[in-house]
Amino acid sequence: MPSLFQPSPEFARILDQDDPLRSFRDKFVFPQHKGEPVLYFCGNSLGLQPVAVREAVNAELDHWGEYAVEGHFRGEKPWMYYHKFLTESTARLVGALPHEVVVMNTLSVNLHLMMVSFYRPAGKRYKIIMEAGAFPSDQYAVESQVRFHGYDPADAIIEISPREGEDTLRNADILDTISRHGEETALVLFPGIQYYTGQYFDLENITKAAHQAGAYAGFDLAHTAGNMMLRLHDWGPDFAVWCSYKYLNSGPGGPSGVFVHERHASNPELPRFAGWWGHDEDSRFRMEKGFNPMYGAAGWQLSNAQILSFAAHLASLKIFDEAEMYRLRSKSLLMTAYLEYTLNNARARGLDFRIITPGYKNARGCQLSLLTGPGGRALFDRLTEQGVVADWREPNVIRFAPVPLYNSFTDIWKLGNLL
Ligand SMILES: Cc1ncc(COP(=O)(O)O)c(C=O)c1O
Repeated sequence: MPSLFQPSPEFARILDQDDPLRSFRDKFVFPQHKGEPVLYFCGNSLGLQPVAVREAVNAELDHWGEYAVEGHFRGEKPWMYYHKFLTESTARLVGALPHEVVVMNTLSVNLHLMMVSFYRPAGKRYKIIMEAGAFPSDQYAVESQVRFHGYDPADAIIEISPREGEDTLRNADILDTISRHGEETALVLFPGIQYYTGQYFDLENITKAAHQAGAYAGFDLAHTAGNMMLRLHDWGPDFAVWCSYKYLNSGPGGPSGVFVHERHASNPELPRFAGWWGHDEDSRFRMEKGFNPMYGAAGWQLSNAQILSFAAHLASLKIFDEAEMYRLRSKSLLMTAYLEYTLNNARARGLDFRIITPGYKNARGCQLSLLTGPGGRALFDRLTEQGVVADWREPNVIRFAPVPLYNSFTDIWKLGNLL
């Protein structure tokens, strides 16, 4: 079928003119290359800085300067309640109820905290099903949890790999593995989007299969939050965790979001690692013995909020509220299709790579991963020299992620021109 796209700068310009979200680009700070903004395709790794962040962080520094310890209780956003200011936007972003989400800590920490509650091996049900080649932090977290409970990772972790000669997983194979190992599985842990291939998984059906098997279902949404339309409450996983420094543009090491499904909101029997900020807010400062968790995800908090990074996150979440996730996803579908078209044109002209991200739009987000040949690293380095920021993942993949909040169709045309 002939493409609807055209390989010309005028065509890209028309797409930009027609883009209802085009003004959001001005809300971000672009690094410069030879006096021009770089071609930034790395929002899947670290999102650009929203202009509003500087003012938001400065406001908290001023608040601290003006009130010192009283800043916990004074001003428009008293620090004592700061995590709550992020709740509504966070819930909207992942399709959750407000009491199902909380922002706290960082991603790997939260993955551990969630596994403390939702990896409860007992009897012959002690295994974790996950993808082979998961992000290393997730692999280490799972291995260490399994060992912590006295099991051997080689036995207790079931990894699902793509079939011979294929790059990505088939949903049917995931569901089949869950049903075959159902009786011995304690937890099914999957990413929303696979960091290396860019594949998006069928989270709803993975959840169903895990629950049918009698296991818990949890997701690492590092590459998914702010990228895909999510309906976590309806899909029903037991937990999910994500970071805020990729598509959520909240700055390096930014805080993590956590989802705990409503069905676990008021179960004091569920084991957890507790801290004072998860304790009932009304009696927290009585400093008494006996942990009494708050209702919902907030009851998993350990510490008081890291105000400066939360302030940056709050400023960024406001942009998502303004842009709205369904509009971002609809622009993203078009942009990624245009990137795919542009890359395929470059390939037809002789560049040595193939796209390993699924071609089906519902099985990917905005990222496309290119498996390169022997000249891959040199190609990547040449692009970097010319002001393209993408990323290289060992052993031989280049990832490009056009982000609907701040990338333009002209960025993609320029990339194609350089390729
Ligand atoms: C899928 C995934 N999981 C976990 C992590 C680790 O995140 P953190 O260093 O914030 O704990 C990352 C970081 O990029 C990631 O992409």
